[in-house]
Amino acid sequence: MSNVTILVGAQWGDEGKGKWVDILAEKAQIVARFQGGNNAGHTLYVDGQKVVLHQIPSGAFRDGTIGALSAGVVINPVQLVEELGCVQQFTDLPPSRLWLSVRAHVITPWHIAQDHAQESLATNPIGTTKRGIGPTYEAKYARRGLRLGHYVDDEARMAWLAERSHVEPAFRAHIEDHKQEWEAFHRQAAVLRPYVCDSELRLRSSIEQGAQVLLEGAQGALLDIDHGTYPFVTSSSTMVGGAPASVGFGVKHIGQILGVAKAYTTRVGEGPFPSELEDSTGLALARAGHEFGATTGRPRRCGWLDAVALRHVYKANGLDGIILNKMDVLSGFSTLKICTAYDHPTLGRITDFPWDPHVLTDCKPVYEIHPGWSEPLSQRRWSDLPAAAKSYISAVAQAIDGEVLMVGTGVNRGDALYR
Ligand code: IMP
Repeated sequence: MSNVTILVGAQWGDEGKGKWVDILAEKAQIVARFQGGNNAGHTLYVDGQKVVLHQIPSGAFRDGTIGALSAGVVINPVQLVEELGCVQQFTDLPPSRLWLSVRAHVITPWHIAQDHAQESLATNPIGTTKRGIGPTYEAKYARRGLRLGHYVDDEARMAWLAERSHVEPAFRAHIEDHKQEWEAFHRQAAVLRPYVCDSELRLRSSIEQGAQVLLEGAQGALLDIDHGTYPFVTSSSTMVGGAPASVGFGVKHIGQILGVAKAYTTRVGEGPFPSELEDSTGLALARAGHEFGATTGRPRRCGWLDAVALRHVYKANGLDGIILNKMDVLSGFSTLKICTAYDHPTLGRITDFPWDPHVLTDCKPVYEIHPGWSEPLSQRRWSDLPAAAKSYISAVAQAIDGEVLMVGTGVNRGDALYR
């Protein structure tokens, strides 16, 4: 039974996954997030109102759909409670519709402070969201983290705090110096307790019984801890493989694997970005695409579509196809460029995405040039797209040696074209 769909970001995040999860959730009984934390920001428009979700899966706005966070996720309890309050204004989200994994790790005020300290002391900061993501995963893999199942158990939470305070004097000092933050942290345990369950067990048995399940990646494949532009990445597995690792289910159930990419490229934070445009065209893309971070409000770096990077992501994830999003943003540009290779001062022409950020930094983009179109793309069918838009889509498919299965042409649910 091929009843599991996995959707990942195919660039450096912010590809507009939230909208597509919301659309694909129509056919899903369960939507689960498998990695990341409140570093993510999914913007949705529900009944014309802008809603930004950081931790709750975007499918939550579909009546009857269950949202789940599985083992590979990290959770900020204070922010999650705030977000729950926001979602409850639109839809009822009882514990039967939101499953929070006992195995997920908890972001504490200490981890957030660590993220701030490391970023401000570093000579080459990563440009993190400062949400405590890296330090929480660090603690998880060093086997000194706090799991959600223990967080909501008062005795287990206090035992964990006592042990950490015993081992790390700086941790104890932080608790003493930041009483209010820690009080808020403790307070939300009771609020979240009813939602905490063995979500992997529930997900697995739902999958085995044939439920349609959508597994939603956060960030993007180029921010993957192993396959991304390390060290300028996030601290989790953002690739397709992260999904079964986090949920624990038979991979034979995976039916479709989709990657969402913008029709151009953006990046927030530091790190190499060969097709970045630090000129008026880059600014025009940023303005047309409203490229400001949903989580931090930071302006995003913009550039032409990097097909070298996208091809790497396509192959490394075994994608069935790309959703080419925000095509409408390109309306009005007289010419469009697609980066199909890099030129490196010593390595020459490169067509495989380099593993080394120093190499990538020195790469110059090699572009194919395509004619643009001036018409707006909203409210159309695929067949009605301007000829130049259709040929741009074909050029992207060819450059990535893959398929473009869907196209996004605006912020609303209806601005979605299917091949
Ligand atoms: P962290 O995940 O906060 O540790 O940040 C590590 C890197 O990932 C930084 O470059 C962030 O800007 C980037 N990042 C994290 N989450 C997102 C996201 O949701 N969209 C885009 N970039 C992100």
